[in-house]
Amino acid sequence: MIKVLVTDKLAQEGLDLLAGMDDVKVTVKTGLSEDELIAVIAEHDGLIIRSDTKVTGKVLENSGNLKAIARAGVGIDNVDVQTATRKNIIVMNTPGGNTISAAEHTIALMMALSRHIVQGCNSLKAGKWDRKLFMGTQLRGKTLGLVGLGRIGLAVASRAIGLEMKVIGYDPIASPEPAEKLGVKIYSNVDKLFADCDYLSLHVPVTDQTRGMVNARRIALMKPTARIVNVARGPIINEQDLYQALRNKKIAGAALDVFAQEPPENRGFEQLDNCIVTPHLGASTEEAQIEVAVEAAEQLVDALRGTEIRNALNVPR
Ligand code: MLT
Repeated sequence: MIKVLVTDKLAQEGLDLLAGMDDVKVTVKTGLSEDELIAVIAEHDGLIIRSDTKVTGKVLENSGNLKAIARAGVGIDNVDVQTATRKNIIVMNTPGGNTISAAEHTIALMMALSRHIVQGCNSLKAGKWDRKLFMGTQLRGKTLGLVGLGRIGLAVASRAIGLEMKVIGYDPIASPEPAEKLGVKIYSNVDKLFADCDYLSLHVPVTDQTRGMVNARRIALMKPTARIVNVARGPIINEQDLYQALRNKKIAGAALDVFAQEPPENRGFEQLDNCIVTPHLGASTEEAQIEVAVEAAEQLVDALRGTEIRNALNVPR
């Protein structure tokens, strides 16, 4: 019997799929502390998580039989992949399931920024009727700069092109062809992309190259009317630098769905009129959660049965 432990809230469709498999025994235990996870993990073959469970080196050192971890989602910041690799534990993610939801949230935030939707709503709810204060701008004809032209970056690009925006993009790793086919102009110089765009949207993981890439020096290159959207990962932005830039009106605004620390320790962005914030909702749709749950369940069981290993981050296909 394949024993699977699920330690974060997973869509019911994923759990039902596991429960329907004759050779799988699934156990759900959410909200575990590190020690509680250590106490139960060793008797399982596979683990399914979202972003709440922290699979630390200490957990992995005590993981007994564990052979594979499936992350229902994209980011694996919560897994010590290096230790997992050393212990021959496969770590996989589900890169496709969240794409459309993350792209739609990006577009929603861009629209909310350009039309002051959050501020207008808050003002009306506070009993005011202030139409002049919330003069907006159209997206049509504006330039969207995308850092990252992977799945989500491309999905944002095609939606922005549908809104008649001009899209420019920078990605030193991805092949430029899919983006070019959509009509994205490729930049090889990221500083120039910062300088030319009206909206900047980030779609890269956190790496040594991307950590803090949105910083005071690059923000200073941007137009004073420019706005930044981040639905990727908090550490890509130097938060202190962005906070100062927004406070001093160096750029027009920012919409942040992700933070260096979640929940954010320093609640400064929430106090700024030109900043809107959401609590990491990029993948929070019914559709995305079902997709990632089903994909994670299928991938994990296939890997444990020895049928096929898909989307592994530490094993060649
Ligand atoms: C992801 O990495 O899949 C998204 O950011 C959503 C999440 O963390 O669950």
